[in-house]
Amino acid sequence: MESTDRISTDNGIQIEKFKQLVGLASLINSSLDQSVIRMRAIEAAKTLLNAEEGSMMLIDRNTNELYFDVVAGETGTLLKKVRIGLDQGVAGWVATNAVPQIVNDAGSDPRFYSAVDKAASFETRSIIAVPLLFQGRVLGVLEAVNKITGPFTQEDLDLFVSLSDLVASAVENANLHEELREAFFGIVLALADALESRDTYTGGHTQRVRHYCQSIGTALQLGKNDMEILLLSAILHDIGKIGVRDAILCKEGPLTREEAALMSEHSKKGAEILSNIKALRNVIPSVMAHHERFDGNGYPDRLSGEDIPMFARIIAVADTFDAMTTDRPYRKALTPAEAFAELLRCSGTQFDPDVVAKFIPAIPEETE
Ligand SMILES: [Fe+2]
Repeated sequence: MESTDRISTDNGIQIEKFKQLVGLASLINSSLDQSVIRMRAIEAAKTLLNAEEGSMMLIDRNTNELYFDVVAGETGTLLKKVRIGLDQGVAGWVATNAVPQIVNDAGSDPRFYSAVDKAASFETRSIIAVPLLFQGRVLGVLEAVNKITGPFTQEDLDLFVSLSDLVASAVENANLHEELREAFFGIVLALADALESRDTYTGGHTQRVRHYCQSIGTALQLGKNDMEILLLSAILHDIGKIGVRDAILCKEGPLTREEAALMSEHSKKGAEILSNIKALRNVIPSVMAHHERFDGNGYPDRLSGEDIPMFARIIAVADTFDAMTTDRPYRKALTPAEAFAELLRCSGTQFDPDVVAKFIPAIPEETE
């Protein structure tokens, strides 16, 4: 009876571990924030291996050192400052040789690097470490230390290797995503710069509007995704001017009624241009509505109040503030204090009063 019980218990543990791995795989494929995914993965590793601490170290290719990207355990904050050379410690050895290791008596292993324990006021007794490998490249090392019950086993190692395959693909995907995102931002900026170079009087306008929007976004405590949409909208808000003739765009002095009508097509035109780019679909409503007024007297759709997308209301304030505080051919720039007074005067008519109220305290230090 006893041996049958033992077998069924063992099977139960295996099934539980398998379930955890499957759960982790679906977590990694989910749209959750990368830092959450990584922390959950390392916490799962710590639980699966019954270890006191678990960590993910990644290789900094500039310095050829390992740094702690995620630590599950009490030493977390202390270890975040520690860096390990690729020739130091069991982790360095695993990163260099791309071979998993079990060290059940850490103190007697010549590779053991005691500086990490000192930095974290911790005593490492046993280590299990596996390389994070993606298509033959070592991205870093997963490590768990101090198995609570007995020594680390080959079974633990097999499990840890399966887990590291999942984590490695998540890390690589995140790296690729970040590279793509940077390239995408670069292209968008280049496009906006190309437009701006036609209009000498607005030099740096796009960057300043982006900067002001970032300050308001921070004051509003926007999340990462919303902040990205706001900044892309700020960079691209006038992209529709690409379709406005030089004779109008670069005209010194006031525009005629017909010219002003053509110029005011730019918000609609911008939205049309962007509608061809799937990755920018969230930006379209703000580009379309950045000349709407809070009182409904703007264009192109005469939207009012909260019917105007929030980011368009933010861009309207940032855009006008920059226009007022830079020299134009027909007038000198206002001081920031004068421009703030003007924003307040038009608060509730041209501008959303809540945005103006957030904007003014977020800006003065940078401009005065
Ligand atoms: Fe505009």
